[in-house]
Amino acid sequence: MLPVIDISNLSSANLDERRAVARALGDAYSEAGFAYIRDHGIPQAVLARAQDAMRAYFARPEGEKRLLARREGVYRGYVPIMPFGRNANDAPPALYEAFLMGADPHPDDPEVHATKGLYGPNVWPDEPSGFRQAMTDYWNAVSTLSDALLRGFALFLDQDETVLVDKFRKPLSNISFLYYPSRPDAAGHPPDDMNGHRDTNAITVLLPSEVGGLEVATADGGWMEAPPKPGCFVVNIGNMMECWSGGRLKSTYHRVHPPRDKERYSIGFFAVPDHDTVVEPLPGLPVTGAPEDMAPRHAGHDLADFVAVFDNHDKDMRDSAS
Ligand SMILES: [Fe+2]
Repeated sequence: MLPVIDISNLSSANLDERRAVARALGDAYSEAGFAYIRDHGIPQAVLARAQDAMRAYFARPEGEKRLLARREGVYRGYVPIMPFGRNANDAPPALYEAFLMGADPHPDDPEVHATKGLYGPNVWPDEPSGFRQAMTDYWNAVSTLSDALLRGFALFLDQDETVLVDKFRKPLSNISFLYYPSRPDAAGHPPDDMNGHRDTNAITVLLPSEVGGLEVATADGGWMEAPPKPGCFVVNIGNMMECWSGGRLKSTYHRVHPPRDKERYSIGFFAVPDHDTVVEPLPGLPVTGAPEDMAPRHAGHDLADFVAVFDNHDKDMRDSAS
């Protein structure tokens, strides 16, 4: 079972109370790399509106959604339905579709041009009505939560409390709204081959699917389920946070195994710092991580590489499906 952390005191005026939460975060992320985050202060209504808007959006006609299909090199808009991965066995693969958003700068913001669109702007469907507002409210709430966690991690690492959050002034953070349709035709086949991976970003805040499906690698080489827990986000750290911490905090392998007989919806927020941030171990920290994980990386180039991999995967999956 993953640790459950009450973060209500992360915004306390009392430093000792903030430190106590930071210690709990540090302990959890030094070991499992994943935890349930509770008492985060985000109203349930904000979460419910985003979930309702997501369900209504994915139920819209395919042709309408494709009007906002993601373009190559851009990480915004609609990702039409495609296989999640290729199965070595003969089971029909899990399918998913997505809608991607991030910061919402004005199109004339120089950062939009300088970052080749990685910083935005967003694209928004006309329908369902209220979609943009629901998703913007969700973005604002979860960005604030992510910033609070960044302050907590800095405190745990005995750094200035703002050293990490200061790298997120015009962040390349992004959200994936994900829908996996049920796959009753795959019943009776062997399980999907699942793509275990570590996240490349700093922090991932997941509003988990009600039907489960997330699995986290364990220290003994196995996998454990991370089922949804009422009132909690599932939060993990990615490679950037591991690097900043000198390897003390762990970016852990995980995978998604969608149940075949149920529809699955989830929302992932991926915290990525400003474009020109060079991520490297924070000064003064012992560096214990693997050398390849501790090597400096440029946040914008790292995300561009990720989007290029996504572009190739997208093409590959569509070719194999056609
Ligand atoms: Fe992931």
